[in-house]
Amino acid sequence: MDYHKFIEIVDDWPKEGISFKDITPLMADGEAFRSAVDDIVNFAKEKQIDVVVGPEARGFIIGCPVSYSMGVGFVPVRKKGKLPREVIEVDYGLEYGKNVLTIHKDAIKPGQRVLITDDLLATGGTIEATIKLVEELGGVVVGCAFLIELGYLDGISKLEGYEVLSLMKYE
Ligand code: PRP
Repeated sequence: MDYHKFIEIVDDWPKEGISFKDITPLMADGEAFRSAVDDIVNFAKEKQIDVVVGPEARGFIIGCPVSYSMGVGFVPVRKKGKLPREVIEVDYGLEYGKNVLTIHKDAIKPGQRVLITDDLLATGGTIEATIKLVEELGGVVVGCAFLIELGYLDGISKLEGYEVLSLMKYE
């Protein structure tokens, strides 16, 4: 399915110069949302995934239905101060800002095969930080799946050597 018609582009939001890609119309359409989740499941299904990892907050929206469909667990990566038990953390840069991401220290077992999901690949800072967290815990990242890739920000250059699926690309 071509999902572009389900994405609303909002210029100069949340800051001037940013062209925001709003995925909420896609999520609100039952057929399109299911199809997008199924596309990611198909990408991942031969990879013997043990767990899906998604960064807050929009990574949860994609990752949870994928993990449910595949019958594997879901592990949240959250912004600092949100997870209640012992965490490891990493700094990352965003398309618009800076932040710290964390994961529970016992969330991934060494050798577990991990699919990472998010709505958007922009500068690649978030996915790079998420991969670092997973690998620091001994997880093996066997794929990264996004609804949208912003080609002009070249986040893909941070994913050399990883298998990547993007359902839409904006140049
Ligand atoms: C957005 C988006 C990705 C990330 C992509 O999340 O959902 O996670 O930015 O940008 P990058 O490739 O430049 O890192 P954001 O941090 O805005 O958080 P949210 O999902 O909680 O709104």
